[in-house]
Amino acid sequence: MNDLEKIVSEAIDQFASTRESAELERVKASYLGKAGRLTEMLKGLGKLAPEARRESGALINAAKERIEAALTARRAAIALAALEARLAEESLDVTLPGRGRGRGGIHPVIRTWQRVEAIFRSIGFDVADGPEIESDWYNFTALNNPENHPARSMQDTFYIEDKDSSGLQLLLRTHTSPMQVRYARQHRAPVKVIAPGRTYRVDSDATHSPMFHQVEGLWIDEHISFADLKGVYTDFLRRFFETDDLQVRFRPSFFPFTEPSAEIDMMFADGPNKGKWLEISGSGQVHPTVVRNFGLEPERYIGFAFGSGLERLTMLRYGINDLRLFFDGDLRFLRQFA
Ligand code: PHE
Repeated sequence: MNDLEKIVSEAIDQFASTRESAELERVKASYLGKAGRLTEMLKGLGKLAPEARRESGALINAAKERIEAALTARRAAIALAALEARLAEESLDVTLPGRGRGRGGIHPVIRTWQRVEAIFRSIGFDVADGPEIESDWYNFTALNNPENHPARSMQDTFYIEDKDSSGLQLLLRTHTSPMQVRYARQHRAPVKVIAPGRTYRVDSDATHSPMFHQVEGLWIDEHISFADLKGVYTDFLRRFFETDDLQVRFRPSFFPFTEPSAEIDMMFADGPNKGKWLEISGSGQVHPTVVRNFGLEPERYIGFAFGSGLERLTMLRYGINDLRLFFDGDLRFLRQFA
């Protein structure tokens, strides 16, 4: 039975030279498959005499068991090698920092916007929103800013080439004041509203940006006076800056849509701006012509309006000295407010 020894050692050698399981199974079939070499030998047993058949059968079966054992061992070795190869390929460095999920934050100017809304809502003001692309009529004419009047050049803006459906010139609103007219025409008196939003002007330096934010305030009733403006606005500043230690002053000024008009200045009792008057808002008693454009009789209705820059309020609250920081998108700056 030297033949059998040869077959076993050939099988073991061939198994050892296979690298993957499909190949191994093919080699296995050539020994143990239907037409495999060992299977053929077992088939040949039938021709032998009973005595010889038993003896040969035992030898062939012993050989078969050795081949099967080698096969099982090789299968395991190939599976292990495949696993190791995969682990090496998909290696995971658990010491690498995580990719993380970007955490969004609220922009400091929007934080101011939200605070302003909360403060004015708490004293009964409605909050309104309006278009940033505005008609020349709402932005200027309705606010007592007649065409060709030199006061228009106080606010240079971006004009839109197309006219609106009724042929009116369109532009990016230069202030939130057109919202006074829009809101008052859509609501019954008394009117008590703020309108925060984006505004645009041809202006760009450390304290001006072509896009910026304002909040408009308007309170119209039968007897709203300048004293109410002083009270409301002073209270607003104290709550916004979280201190009663600030002074407020109303300095005469000019706006076509208010008469009298005033700049509101404020002064902190301490901090980096201690002792300095800081300009914070335009304001005034709404001009009778504008009240008429609200659809109200100026003989009966009177009140005040103000328009304040949200960037300005934000810069003073946090001690920021360059407006452009708000719009550069530098995360090192923005994260400080998140
Ligand atoms: N709209 C004015 C501006 O942008 C501010 C203002 C609003 C003044 C309301 C008076 C009343 O400069």
